[in-house]
Amino acid sequence: MNVLGIETSCDECSAAVVKDGSEILSNVIATQIELHRPFDGVVPELASRLHTEWISQVVNAAILQANISKKDIDAIAVTCKPGLLGSLLVGVNFAKGLAQTLDVPFVGIDHIRAHLYAPQIEHPLKYPYLGVLLSGGHTVICRVDSYDSIEVLGTTVDDAIGEAFDKVAKHYGLGYPGGVMIDRLAQKGDDLAFRFPGSNLKETYHPYDISYSGLKTAVINQLELFSTGKEASAENIAASFQRVAVGMLMKRVDRALTDTGLKRISAGGGVAANSLVRSSLKAYEDKGFEVSFPSLKLCTDNGAMVAGLGYRYISDGITSSCNLDASSRVAAFKKTVVEL
Ligand code: KG4
Ligand code: ZN
Repeated sequence: MNVLGIETSCDECSAAVVKDGSEILSNVIATQIELHRPFDGVVPELASRLHTEWISQVVNAAILQANISKKDIDAIAVTCKPGLLGSLLVGVNFAKGLAQTLDVPFVGIDHIRAHLYAPQIEHPLKYPYLGVLLSGGHTVICRVDSYDSIEVLGTTVDDAIGEAFDKVAKHYGLGYPGGVMIDRLAQKGDDLAFRFPGSNLKETYHPYDISYSGLKTAVINQLELFSTGKEASAENIAASFQRVAVGMLMKRVDRALTDTGLKRISAGGGVAANSLVRSSLKAYEDKGFEVSFPSLKLCTDNGAMVAGLGYRYISDGITSSCNLDASSRVAAFKKTVVEL
């Protein structure tokens, strides 16, 4: 079964063809990064306008690169939530029109679930596992029992991890997109040059939740307060910030693994491309855990993860009607209630 996946939730206009849920025949990603760079962030109005201009060509390129023709598409999957509403609507309406023209089923996909599913395409991991979703809009630690059964254990209570990376980078003029620049600079910096504070959420109430706003404020506004006297170079700031940002996350991951007894870990989302995140999670392999990451191209927004998850739904007979709407809001996932 060839599934065409379409992703337009933010600033990547992407389409992919995935065969039988695992063979990526094409994964075209037209990034808008250069066009948003002058604004140091994504401009929603500009993003939706560019998706409208590009979507048809991106889908055609995905079909061409897959070496198939339109009549070989068996189903269409499209991201319908959460994200920028105007951008999502472009993908959803395009998918609906194409599905009707080709007379094939289509299914709306939750972007968060697609990120969590991405590692399964290349390196299938047995369920259940601890899912760690790290992106520009979300930070979620969850128990994943199947592609469609996800129990959220903890989330950020304020900024998402990628948002914290991007805002710190923007403040210091490190370049855009900020996460990648911080990762690069941090390789050359002293990660103990600044002793920034971690999350101060009470562990009794929030064992797996995380807060990035305090760290972000400290790095942006209180640099001198946390200095150890070393040079305030971009490299040192980036390395010290990254050490604490990832350390805070790993503390929660560790606690969640101990409490749930899960032996498998999978990470997804743009910040799962971060070198310190990857090496910190990879270190669990030495303790007997199975760890799975998507390749770098499947970490950030892409159509293949949408097509891969779409294949699962469609194989199980789950499709969407032509009334499918786009939504900017995060769908409710079951959240674990912590007994006190
Ligand atoms: O998953 P994604 O492409 O889009 C969202 O769904 O948000 O993630 C984008 C985020 C941005 O915040 C970007 O700065 C961050 O992922 N990112 C990174 C790295 N690569 C991308 N953050 C830290 N280190 C990286 N290497
Ligand atoms: Zn994303």
